[in-house]
Amino acid sequence: MLSGATETLDDTCDGVRLRPFRAGDAAALQTICAGWRMARMTSRIPHPYPARAAPRRIAEREALAESGRGISFCLDSGRVVTGVVTLRRQGQRRHQLGYSIGDAWGGLGFTTAAAQQASAYAFAALGADSVRAGHYFDTPASQRVLEKCNFRYTGSDWQWCQARQQLVPCRRYLLQAAGA
Ligand SMILES: CC(C)(COP(=O)(O)OP(=O)(O)OC[C@H]1O[C@@H](n2cnc3c(N)ncnc32)[C@H](O)[C@@H]1OP(=O)(O)O)[C@@H](O)C(=O)NCCC(=O)NCCS
Repeated sequence: MLSGATETLDDTCDGVRLRPFRAGDAAALQTICAGWRMARMTSRIPHPYPARAAPRRIAEREALAESGRGISFCLDSGRVVTGVVTLRRQGQRRHQLGYSIGDAWGGLGFTTAAAQQASAYAFAALGADSVRAGHYFDTPASQRVLEKCNFRYTGSDWQWCQARQQLVPCRRYLLQAAGA
């Protein structure tokens, strides 16, 4: 089991606290995932987002951590849940980073702070020597987030998008641990 399943990360980074999801976060998560603008930028979120899908998603995140296949954190502004950041194990020393933030919370630097914290956590606590990430070609804000986190562009391919129900061109990135 990943130790981070019960951990809360540094709460001093640009107003973003990364903590485990709780059952009580379901209503906020449901609202965040229901928007088309956000769903179309992610690979896994369906649209329309099924009623009561959020409690299942929270339970799946607990199972993900318990199995050692990854870990998901809730972005907590101190007052409300604003988004999600997830690390999925892809190999012994490699994780894939994913993130989403609710429409109401975009443009405040929250995702950049969360991506930086999660990547640092992958290197320091999960034994990763690299973190991968990607974004669809038509999500320039996500490209900017990865640039600000010092990810390096590695190439493009296609990624299925659940909300759009089609393959979409995707740009891929890599961040290596210092000294790796
Ligand atoms: C893309 C997304 C992650 C951005 O989150 P955010 O919290 O607004 O990100 P930040 O505030 O940390 O940074 C956004 C940056 O993008 C820039 N930006 C916003 N819209 C932009 C656009 N249309 N073109 C270029 N840059 C843009 C902002 O100016 C900012 O850069 P700056 O700090 O240099 O000014 C958010 O919109 C989201 O959740 N999208 C859905 C999920 C997703 O795309 N995930 C990626 C795949 S894992």
